[in-house]
Amino acid sequence: MEGLRHIVESQQFTPPFLAELFARADALSQEQRVNDLPGTVMASLFYEPSTRTRFSFEAAMYRLGGNVIMTENAREFSSYAKGESLEDTIRIVSGYADVIVMRHNEIGAAKRAAEISTVPILNAGDGAGQHPTQALLDLYTLFKKFRRLEGLRVAMVGDLRYGRTVRSLAYLLAKYKGVQLTFVAPPVCQMHDDIKAYLTRQGTAWEEIADLDAVLPAVDCVYMTRIQKERFLDLKEFATAQNIYRLTPDKLRRMGKEAIIMHPLPRVNEIDPAVDDDPRAIYFEQARNGLWIRMALIQYVLRRWG
Ligand code: CP
Repeated sequence: MEGLRHIVESQQFTPPFLAELFARADALSQEQRVNDLPGTVMASLFYEPSTRTRFSFEAAMYRLGGNVIMTENAREFSSYAKGESLEDTIRIVSGYADVIVMRHNEIGAAKRAAEISTVPILNAGDGAGQHPTQALLDLYTLFKKFRRLEGLRVAMVGDLRYGRTVRSLAYLLAKYKGVQLTFVAPPVCQMHDDIKAYLTRQGTAWEEIADLDAVLPAVDCVYMTRIQKERFLDLKEFATAQNIYRLTPDKLRRMGKEAIIMHPLPRVNEIDPAVDDDPRAIYFEQARNGLWIRMALIQYVLRRWG
Protein backbone atom coordinates (compact mmCIF):
# COMPACT_ATOMS: atom_id res chain seq x y z
CA MET A 1 0.00 0.00 0.00
CA GLU A 2 3.02 2.31 0.48
CA GLY A 3 2.81 5.23 -1.88
CA LEU A 4 -0.71 4.40 -3.00
CA ARG A 5 -2.03 7.55 -4.62
CA HIS A 6 -5.65 6.81 -5.48
CA ILE A 7 -8.36 4.82 -3.67
CA VAL A 8 -10.13 2.97 -6.47
CA GLU A 9 -10.82 -0.63 -5.45
CA SER A 10 -10.66 -2.88 -2.38
CA GLN A 11 -7.95 -5.12 -3.81
CA GLN A 12 -5.47 -2.30 -3.18
CA PHE A 13 -5.38 -2.66 0.59
CA THR A 14 -3.21 -4.87 2.79
CA PRO A 15 -4.08 -6.04 6.33
CA PRO A 16 -1.26 -3.92 7.88
CA PHE A 17 -2.61 -0.83 6.12
CA LEU A 18 -6.12 -1.66 7.29
CA ALA A 19 -4.95 -2.06 10.89
CA GLU A 20 -3.25 1.34 10.72
CA LEU A 21 -6.33 2.92 9.12
CA PHE A 22 -8.55 1.60 11.92
CA ALA A 23 -6.16 2.90 14.60
CA ARG A 24 -6.19 6.32 12.91
CA ALA A 25 -9.98 6.23 12.67
CA ASP A 26 -10.21 5.35 16.39
CA ALA A 27 -8.00 8.33 17.27
CA LEU A 28 -9.99 10.69 15.03
CA SER A 29 -13.26 9.53 16.59
CA GLN A 30 -11.83 10.69 19.94
CA GLU A 31 -10.55 14.00 18.64
CA GLN A 32 -13.59 14.67 16.39
CA ARG A 33 -11.80 17.64 14.72
CA VAL A 34 -8.16 18.33 13.87
CA ASN A 35 -6.74 21.28 12.00
CA ASP A 36 -4.42 19.19 9.85
CA LEU A 37 -5.21 20.43 6.38
CA PRO A 38 -5.91 24.18 6.48
CA GLY A 39 -6.28 25.71 3.04
CA THR A 40 -6.60 22.29 1.38
CA VAL A 41 -9.39 21.87 -1.17
CA MET A 42 -11.42 18.72 -1.87
CA ALA A 43 -13.64 18.57 -4.95
CA SER A 44 -16.76 16.49 -4.44
CA LEU A 45 -18.05 15.32 -7.80
CA PHE A 46 -21.20 13.20 -7.63
CA TYR A 47 -22.88 11.90 -10.80
CA GLU A 48 -25.26 9.73 -8.74
CA PRO A 49 -27.35 10.50 -5.64
CA SER A 50 -25.82 10.12 -2.19
CA THR A 51 -26.52 11.06 1.40
CA ARG A 52 -23.95 9.25 3.54
CA THR A 53 -20.93 9.12 1.28
CA ARG A 54 -21.07 12.72 0.10
CA PHE A 55 -21.93 14.27 3.44
CA SER A 56 -19.43 12.19 5.38
CA PHE A 57 -16.60 12.94 2.93
CA GLU A 58 -17.44 16.63 2.97
CA ALA A 59 -17.82 16.72 6.76
CA ALA A 60 -14.54 14.79 7.03
CA MET A 61 -12.71 17.43 5.01
CA TYR A 62 -14.16 20.28 7.05
CA ARG A 63 -13.30 18.47 10.30
CA LEU A 64 -9.70 18.21 9.06
CA GLY A 65 -9.62 21.98 8.56
CA GLY A 66 -9.94 21.85 4.77
CA ASN A 67 -12.50 23.19 2.31
CA VAL A 68 -14.88 21.62 -0.21
CA ILE A 69 -15.99 22.58 -3.70
CA MET A 70 -18.79 20.41 -4.96
CA THR A 71 -21.44 19.45 -7.43
CA GLU A 72 -24.03 17.10 -5.98
CA ASN A 73 -25.75 16.37 -9.27
CA ALA A 74 -22.92 16.43 -11.78
CA ARG A 75 -24.99 14.92 -14.56
CA GLU A 76 -27.17 18.03 -14.51
CA PHE A 77 -25.05 20.79 -12.98
CA SER A 78 -21.57 20.13 -14.36
CA SER A 79 -20.51 20.47 -18.00
CA TYR A 80 -21.31 16.77 -18.38
CA ALA A 81 -24.74 18.15 -19.33
CA LYS A 82 -23.07 19.89 -22.30
CA GLY A 83 -21.30 16.72 -23.39
CA GLU A 84 -17.94 17.12 -21.62
CA SER A 85 -16.08 13.84 -21.17
CA LEU A 86 -15.15 12.51 -17.74
CA GLU A 87 -11.48 12.78 -18.71
CA ASP A 88 -11.74 16.49 -19.54
CA THR A 89 -13.69 17.21 -16.36
CA ILE A 90 -11.02 15.48 -14.27
CA ARG A 91 -8.21 17.35 -16.09
CA ILE A 92 -9.88 20.61 -15.14
CA VAL A 93 -10.97 19.81 -11.59
CA SER A 94 -7.59 18.33 -10.66
CA GLY A 95 -6.15 21.74 -11.50
CA TYR A 96 -8.39 23.36 -8.88
CA ALA A 97 -8.48 20.83 -6.03
CA ASP A 98 -5.94 18.85 -3.98
CA VAL A 99 -8.09 15.71 -3.89
CA ILE A 100 -11.22 14.58 -5.75
CA VAL A 101 -13.94 12.37 -4.32
CA MET A 102 -16.09 11.04 -7.14
CA ARG A 103 -19.22 8.93 -7.47
CA HIS A 104 -20.08 7.92 -11.02
CA ASN A 105 -22.74 5.82 -12.69
CA GLU A 106 -20.29 3.83 -14.87
CA ILE A 107 -18.25 0.82 -13.77
CA GLY A 108 -14.55 1.68 -14.11
CA ALA A 109 -15.05 5.46 -14.04
CA ALA A 110 -12.84 5.89 -10.97
CA LYS A 111 -10.02 4.00 -12.67
CA ARG A 112 -10.36 6.20 -15.77
CA ALA A 113 -10.30 9.31 -13.58
CA ALA A 114 -7.22 8.07 -11.72
CA GLU A 115 -5.36 7.62 -15.03
CA ILE A 116 -5.91 11.30 -15.86
CA SER A 117 -5.90 13.08 -12.52
CA THR A 118 -2.91 14.96 -11.15
CA VAL A 119 -4.38 14.71 -7.62
CA PRO A 120 -5.67 11.69 -5.63
CA ILE A 121 -9.02 10.22 -6.68
CA LEU A 122 -11.24 8.68 -4.00
CA ASN A 123 -13.80 6.32 -5.51
CA ALA A 124 -17.15 7.00 -3.83
CA GLY A 125 -18.87 4.32 -5.94
CA ASP A 126 -18.66 3.54 -9.66
CA GLY A 127 -21.94 2.13 -10.92
CA ALA A 128 -22.31 -1.52 -9.98
CA GLY A 129 -18.51 -1.80 -9.73
CA GLN A 130 -17.00 -0.98 -6.35
CA HIS A 131 -17.48 1.24 -3.32
CA PRO A 132 -14.16 0.75 -1.53
CA THR A 133 -14.55 3.42 1.16
CA GLN A 134 -17.91 1.88 2.16
CA ALA A 135 -16.17 -1.49 2.47
CA LEU A 136 -13.50 0.10 4.65
CA LEU A 137 -16.07 1.50 7.05
CA ASP A 138 -17.93 -1.81 6.99
CA LEU A 139 -14.76 -3.70 7.88
CA TYR A 140 -13.95 -1.14 10.58
CA THR A 141 -17.43 -1.65 12.04
CA LEU A 142 -16.93 -5.42 12.09
CA PHE A 143 -13.53 -4.99 13.72
CA LYS A 144 -14.89 -2.64 16.38
CA LYS A 145 -17.61 -5.13 17.26
CA PHE A 146 -15.64 -8.37 17.25
CA ARG A 147 -12.04 -7.14 17.80
CA ARG A 148 -11.02 -9.59 15.09
CA LEU A 149 -11.75 -10.25 11.43
CA GLU A 150 -10.37 -13.77 11.09
CA GLY A 151 -13.00 -16.47 11.16
CA LEU A 152 -16.04 -14.20 10.88
CA ARG A 153 -19.15 -15.67 9.27
CA VAL A 154 -20.95 -13.06 7.21
CA ALA A 155 -24.22 -13.40 5.29
CA MET A 156 -24.68 -10.93 2.43
CA VAL A 157 -28.35 -10.58 1.63
CA GLY A 158 -30.29 -8.91 -1.16
CA ASP A 159 -28.96 -7.31 -4.32
CA LEU A 160 -25.61 -8.99 -4.78
CA ARG A 161 -25.72 -8.56 -8.57
CA TYR A 162 -25.72 -4.75 -8.68
CA GLY A 163 -24.47 -4.15 -5.13
CA ARG A 164 -21.07 -2.50 -5.25
CA THR A 165 -20.78 -2.51 -1.46
CA VAL A 166 -20.94 -6.28 -1.20
CA ARG A 167 -18.43 -6.69 -4.00
CA SER A 168 -15.94 -4.39 -2.28
CA LEU A 169 -16.55 -5.94 1.14
CA ALA A 170 -16.07 -9.48 -0.22
CA TYR A 171 -12.65 -8.46 -1.58
CA LEU A 172 -11.67 -7.09 1.83
CA LEU A 173 -12.96 -9.99 3.91
CA ALA A 174 -11.08 -12.43 1.68
CA LYS A 175 -7.86 -11.01 3.13
CA TYR A 176 -8.58 -12.66 6.50
CA LYS A 177 -8.16 -16.33 7.34
CA GLY A 178 -11.19 -18.45 8.11
CA VAL A 179 -13.81 -15.97 6.90
CA GLN A 180 -16.98 -17.67 5.62
CA LEU A 181 -19.36 -15.86 3.29
CA THR A 182 -22.95 -16.87 2.63
CA PHE A 183 -24.76 -15.24 -0.28
CA VAL A 184 -28.54 -14.99 0.05
CA ALA A 185 -30.13 -13.40 -3.00
CA PRO A 186 -33.15 -13.64 -5.28
CA PRO A 187 -32.39 -15.64 -8.45
CA VAL A 188 -31.95 -12.47 -10.55
CA CYS A 189 -29.62 -10.84 -7.97
CA GLN A 190 -26.94 -13.49 -7.46
CA MET A 191 -23.33 -12.57 -6.78
CA HIS A 192 -21.23 -12.39 -9.97
CA ASP A 193 -18.87 -15.19 -10.91
CA ASP A 194 -15.79 -12.95 -10.81
CA ILE A 195 -16.16 -12.48 -7.03
CA LYS A 196 -16.89 -16.17 -6.45
CA ALA A 197 -13.82 -17.13 -8.48
CA TYR A 198 -11.70 -14.62 -6.56
CA LEU A 199 -12.87 -16.01 -3.22
CA THR A 200 -12.11 -19.54 -4.34
CA ARG A 201 -8.62 -18.50 -5.45
CA GLN A 202 -8.06 -16.82 -2.07
CA GLY A 203 -9.22 -19.94 -0.22
CA THR A 204 -12.21 -18.11 1.30
CA ALA A 205 -15.21 -20.35 1.96
CA TRP A 206 -18.43 -19.21 0.29
CA GLU A 207 -21.86 -20.68 -0.37
CA GLU A 208 -25.17 -19.64 -1.88
CA ILE A 209 -28.31 -20.36 0.14
CA ALA A 210 -31.83 -19.18 -0.64
CA ASP A 211 -33.35 -19.78 2.80
CA LEU A 212 -32.49 -16.78 5.01
CA ASP A 213 -34.13 -18.41 8.05
CA ALA A 214 -31.64 -21.26 7.82
CA VAL A 215 -28.71 -18.85 7.59
CA LEU A 216 -29.58 -16.46 10.43
CA PRO A 217 -28.59 -18.72 13.36
CA ALA A 218 -25.24 -19.58 11.79
CA VAL A 219 -23.62 -16.16 11.18
CA ASP A 220 -21.92 -13.37 13.10
CA CYS A 221 -23.16 -10.65 10.77
CA VAL A 222 -26.16 -10.27 8.50
CA TYR A 223 -25.29 -7.65 5.90
CA MET A 224 -28.58 -6.57 4.34
CA THR A 225 -28.77 -4.62 1.08
CA ARG A 226 -31.46 -2.85 -0.91
CA ILE A 227 -32.68 -4.23 -4.24
CA GLN A 228 -31.52 -1.39 -6.48
CA LYS A 229 -34.50 -0.67 -8.69
CA GLU A 230 -32.63 2.06 -10.56
CA ARG A 231 -30.09 -0.45 -11.96
CA PHE A 232 -32.62 -2.86 -13.50
CA LEU A 233 -33.23 -2.46 -17.23
CA ASP A 234 -36.34 -4.65 -16.94
CA LEU A 235 -38.78 -3.66 -14.17
CA LYS A 236 -40.50 -7.05 -14.47
CA GLU A 237 -37.22 -8.61 -13.39
CA PHE A 238 -36.99 -6.16 -10.50
CA ALA A 239 -40.51 -7.18 -9.42
CA THR A 240 -39.33 -10.77 -9.06
CA ALA A 241 -36.59 -9.66 -6.66
CA GLN A 242 -38.31 -7.18 -4.35
CA ASN A 243 -39.81 -8.07 -0.96
CA ILE A 244 -38.25 -11.53 -0.84
CA TYR A 245 -35.84 -10.93 2.03
CA ARG A 246 -36.99 -8.74 4.90
CA LEU A 247 -35.70 -8.63 8.46
CA THR A 248 -38.42 -8.30 11.09
CA PRO A 249 -38.29 -8.58 14.91
CA ASP A 250 -39.70 -12.07 14.51
CA LYS A 251 -36.79 -13.15 12.29
CA LEU A 252 -34.28 -11.67 14.73
CA ARG A 253 -35.19 -14.34 17.23
CA ARG A 254 -33.30 -16.78 15.04
CA MET A 255 -30.03 -14.81 15.25
CA GLY A 256 -27.29 -15.27 17.83
CA LYS A 257 -27.24 -12.86 20.79
CA GLU A 258 -23.83 -11.50 19.76
CA ALA A 259 -24.55 -11.36 16.04
CA ILE A 260 -24.98 -7.98 14.34
CA ILE A 261 -27.09 -6.54 11.53
CA MET A 262 -25.41 -4.20 9.08
CA HIS A 263 -26.67 -2.32 6.02
CA PRO A 264 -24.81 0.23 3.87
CA LEU A 265 -28.09 2.18 3.63
CA PRO A 266 -30.29 3.61 2.28
CA ARG A 267 -32.86 0.93 3.10
CA VAL A 268 -36.28 0.69 1.57
CA ASN A 269 -38.22 -2.14 3.17
CA GLU A 270 -35.65 -4.92 3.64
CA ILE A 271 -35.31 -4.04 7.34
CA ASP A 272 -38.46 -3.33 9.31
CA PRO A 273 -37.92 -0.08 11.30
CA ALA A 274 -39.10 -2.06 14.34
CA VAL A 275 -35.69 -3.81 14.17
CA ASP A 276 -33.84 -0.51 14.78
CA ASP A 277 -34.14 -0.66 18.57
CA ASP A 278 -32.53 -4.10 18.77
CA PRO A 279 -28.95 -3.67 20.07
CA ARG A 280 -27.75 -5.96 17.27
CA ALA A 281 -28.91 -3.43 14.65
CA ILE A 282 -25.83 -1.28 14.17
CA TYR A 283 -26.38 0.25 10.72
CA PHE A 284 -26.63 3.84 11.99
CA GLU A 285 -23.43 3.41 14.01
CA GLN A 286 -21.90 1.86 10.86
CA ALA A 287 -22.76 4.98 8.84
CA ARG A 288 -21.24 7.20 11.54
CA ASN A 289 -18.01 5.17 11.39
CA GLY A 290 -17.68 6.36 7.79
CA LEU A 291 -16.81 9.81 9.03
CA TRP A 292 -13.69 8.66 10.91
CA ILE A 293 -12.59 6.30 8.16
CA ARG A 294 -12.94 9.01 5.51
CA MET A 295 -11.05 11.54 7.65
CA ALA A 296 -8.22 9.02 8.00
CA LEU A 297 -8.25 8.28 4.26
CA ILE A 298 -8.11 11.95 3.28
CA GLN A 299 -5.20 12.41 5.69
CA TYR A 300 -3.49 9.40 4.12
CA VAL A 301 -3.77 10.45 0.48
CA LEU A 302 -2.77 14.04 1.21
CA ARG A 303 -0.12 13.60 3.88
CA ARG A 304 0.67 9.87 4.07
CA TRP A 305 -0.14 10.15 7.79
CA GLY A 306 3.18 11.97 8.16
N1 CP B 1 -23.94 3.70 1.61
C1 CP B 1 -23.98 4.67 0.71
O1 CP B 1 -23.21 4.73 -0.23
O2 CP B 1 -24.96 5.61 0.93
P1 CP B 1 -25.22 6.87 0.02
O3 CP B 1 -25.69 6.37 -1.33
O4 CP B 1 -26.27 7.67 0.73
O5 CP B 1 -23.93 7.64 -0.13
